[in-house]
Amino acid sequence: MTLRVIHGGRGSSDLAPGLLITGASEVVTMAGGLRMGADQDDPAVLRAADAGGSDAPDAPVVACWEGRIVAVGPRESVVAALAAEGLPASRFARLDADGGTVTPGLIDAHTHLLFAGTREGELLLRQRGATYLEILAAGGGILSTVAATRAATEDDLLAHGRRWLDEMLSHGVTTVEAKSGYGLDPATELRLLHAAGILGEEGPIDVVPTYLGAHAVPPEFRSQPDAADAYVRSIIQDQLPLVAAQGIARFCDVFCERGVFSMEQSRLVLEAAMAVGLEPRLHADEIAPSGGAELAAELGAISADHLAAPSAEGIDALARAAAEGRPVIATLLPATTWFLMADDYAPARRLIERGVPVAIASDFNPGTSPTPNLSLVLTVACLELGLTPAEALAGVTVNAAHALGLGDEVGSLEPGRQADLVIWRVPSYVQIPYYPGANLVRAVVKRGQPILERP
Ligand code: NIG
Ligand code: FE
Repeated sequence: MTLRVIHGGRGSSDLAPGLLITGASEVVTMAGGLRMGADQDDPAVLRAADAGGSDAPDAPVVACWEGRIVAVGPRESVVAALAAEGLPASRFARLDADGGTVTPGLIDAHTHLLFAGTREGELLLRQRGATYLEILAAGGGILSTVAATRAATEDDLLAHGRRWLDEMLSHGVTTVEAKSGYGLDPATELRLLHAAGILGEEGPIDVVPTYLGAHAVPPEFRSQPDAADAYVRSIIQDQLPLVAAQGIARFCDVFCERGVFSMEQSRLVLEAAMAVGLEPRLHADEIAPSGGAELAAELGAISADHLAAPSAEGIDALARAAAEGRPVIATLLPATTWFLMADDYAPARRLIERGVPVAIASDFNPGTSPTPNLSLVLTVACLELGLTPAEALAGVTVNAAHALGLGDEVGSLEPGRQADLVIWRVPSYVQIPYYPGANLVRAVVKRGQPILERP
């Protein structure tokens, strides 16, 4: 198998300014905005079969111009409309989907991309009965990654980031959120965010940096009786001003969990973050009901993530927020539940029935979810959360884009959006989660340029 990955992908001038994607059996547009309730099951698909086949004159095509989508629809009318706008067919390179499925580029809206070291030993500990929080309390878990990450240089982190971003790209991911949170001291947190910023500048994947200083209480605070409170004060006084001045992080996240940071401590961190211009998001109720969903609704967080164990009040709060037109997106991370061998998955169906928009992400990290394969996570979402393929796909495209505040930029194939898309070598999107772990990506287009093609 040959992979052709071109780094950069930001408008190199020797390429045609236009790109026309033809020959698809389905174009999954995800047009129409954030999906909630029954709408989450509508992927807004254009089917070649309805037009007489993928080579028929009215078969669906996608036209891109200078990095943006300019038209999606029946081939002959799109080509005529482009010519009428002064964009003749001769200025468009062609990409033949060869009977495959075209979707928006996948968006992984929750990852801990940057860290050093590995933690395969914890799998054995969990198999012998240790729990995730017991391993953390004993100084392992996140804290062992913190020790390795503090010792890593920025170059080490960049090399690691490039390796895993390439892997994500090979599975069809074109935008990635990347959290800090394995430094837990000002210098290392800033280094992690700086590395995330550089990786996004390099491209081709867009990287959205999130500050997660409140990921765990670091070792140097743990001997104090009020360790978590003292560390929260230090985050607010010593870290947040530097993070804000650095100007790279867009969001602030907190691990709001009984035994890690309480609802009150999480509120203090997120309010201070909002005061310096960072938008709030949370690790909420991953292991036990901890007030995370309630706090996300109260603060108007853009996303509440995990939600494997929300309280009934927490679900009510998210449902109310959605009904009042200020939805908090429930970003569910089923690969984490799977890898932790935990019994309880997030109540995805209940959230959808209550009108809460659901996104799906990998949670890529060295402890609880070391998979970079977001299409495998789609399979887990279907099998364990009970989502339909359409609901799950909306969760890694349009809803994931909204969970990163990028709903007007990426996540759907509509005129004006950035031209990020994937061609899959299956005739229908329903087959993407159907082949667990397979790599079905034929091509990835980023900002209107093919950056990965498999012959
Ligand atoms: O989302 N739960 C908190 N953070 C990560 C795990 C981090 C780690 O174990 O290294 C999560 O699961
Ligand atoms: Fe996480």
